[in-house]
Amino acid sequence: MKLEKQSVVIAGGGSTYTAGIVMMLIENQEKFPLRQLKFYDNDEERQSIVAKACEVIVKERAPEIDFLATTDPKEAFTDVDFVMAHIRVGGLSMREKDEKIPLKYGVVGQETCGPGGMAYGMRSIPGVVELIDYMETYSPNAWMLNYSNPAEIVAEATRRMRPNAKIINICDMPVAIKKSIAEIVGLENESDIVDRYYGLNHFGWWTEMTDKQGNDLMPKLKEHLVNYGYAAAGGEENPLLEESSWMDTFQKAKDVYAVDPTTVPNTYLKYYLYPDYVVAYADPNYTRANEVMDNREKNVFAECERIAAAQTAEDTTIEAGEHAEFIVQLAGALAYNTYERMLLIVKNEGAIANLDDDAMVEVPCLVSKRGYEPLSMGKIPHFQKGMIEQQVAVEKLVVDAFEEHSYQKLWQAMTLSKTVPSASVAKQILDEMIEANGEWWPKLT
Ligand code: NAD
Ligand code: G6P
Ligand code: MN
Repeated sequence: MKLEKQSVVIAGGGSTYTAGIVMMLIENQEKFPLRQLKFYDNDEERQSIVAKACEVIVKERAPEIDFLATTDPKEAFTDVDFVMAHIRVGGLSMREKDEKIPLKYGVVGQETCGPGGMAYGMRSIPGVVELIDYMETYSPNAWMLNYSNPAEIVAEATRRMRPNAKIINICDMPVAIKKSIAEIVGLENESDIVDRYYGLNHFGWWTEMTDKQGNDLMPKLKEHLVNYGYAAAGGEENPLLEESSWMDTFQKAKDVYAVDPTTVPNTYLKYYLYPDYVVAYADPNYTRANEVMDNREKNVFAECERIAAAQTAEDTTIEAGEHAEFIVQLAGALAYNTYERMLLIVKNEGAIANLDDDAMVEVPCLVSKRGYEPLSMGKIPHFQKGMIEQQVAVEKLVVDAFEEHSYQKLWQAMTLSKTVPSASVAKQILDEMIEANGEWWPKLT
């Protein structure tokens, strides 16, 4: 069957992930053919570094695709079927502050968890809402597939502020974890795993995993988890884990798992269950933002500049990993009605039976031309329910604070977070974050 060709705009064209997504799109021309590929960013200079390289890649590998990079929203969002969004409002320099300010007070400093995630949420909400408005103005039938973090807060904000928007918020962490799990249990591919999972973004648990034949994978996985977490017993092949901080996170899953051995955890739970450990091993002067600037950002941009200078990408080191694979697979499922099963961040509405309908949850969904249909995960136990409800309240308070410009609500959000020990510590962090975020945040009163 001949598949109808698609038009895609990548919003956040200057992202460190853009080139990888382009490689994946090009490799998937049989399954997800493109007629047009556009980049959109509000930083022309940054985007042009990536765009100049991707122009060479497209010309060399798929010259039939029209390629264009622009900072003009009308040009970018007109005539598109999909918006693949991954913007970072405030950039990595603001991420650095999100991470370093809490650490000064002995609190977890992390991109999406704790006060750092809340600070990032306050910056991200207007940026993502603006993208939705561009899409609805210029291509009202398009889907936005959104990676922009903090995905959980962004999902709650867009649910409230643009309730009818065709946006699907997604995360690659479960896919990356399942990639390691596939290796652990001896499956070729992560997509050979059929899972049941529930929770919030960066805050969830698996209850079942089988292979496609229905064989239970949990016993073998748990035997491994007890000893090594998600890291391999010997060498590790997952490229993510070449960086030591990710290796630590995958190994620490062992201790996260120990808290509830009836389920299998998302790696991010370490920030909520072992914040003391995380802080003790953090370097307050050199955080993950510094690591990303010194490694991923530097390497991707150097490689892009090399390609642009050489005018060939024949021997490029840019790779399309699970991050790119997941978003392209999701677009394919929506475009071509595949009914694939994927974990998405969606309105609960009964998917977790004993949780509020309006919580944004991460659960398996069937994806087709009709959109997504969440699967029912049933009732969840006290431990997870308690943690999830606390975290949902934190995220709702952040969005309240954004909408109402409320200092009080953001203070409450930080106070309620499991990562923060007291209201006084929360207040000190908040006051410093207000200074640091300046114009990025609404003025709180
Ligand atoms: P980056 O800073 O390298 O790239 C982000 C790009 O967005 C930059 O080029 C920047 O100019 C652009 N941008 C910022 N604000 C914008 C706006 N309002 N409009 C248009 N463009 C804007 O960041 P990165 O490390 O490549 O990450 C990109 C995003 O993807 C981050 O939000 C990151 O957290 C997210 N991410 C999410 C997942 C997930 O699981 N959901 C996985 C990986 C990355
Ligand atoms: C995972 C998470 C993302 C997060 C990313 C951070 O992929 O799912 O939500 O943005 O890791 O990675 P970094 O390498 O930037 O710390
Ligand atoms: Mn994520």
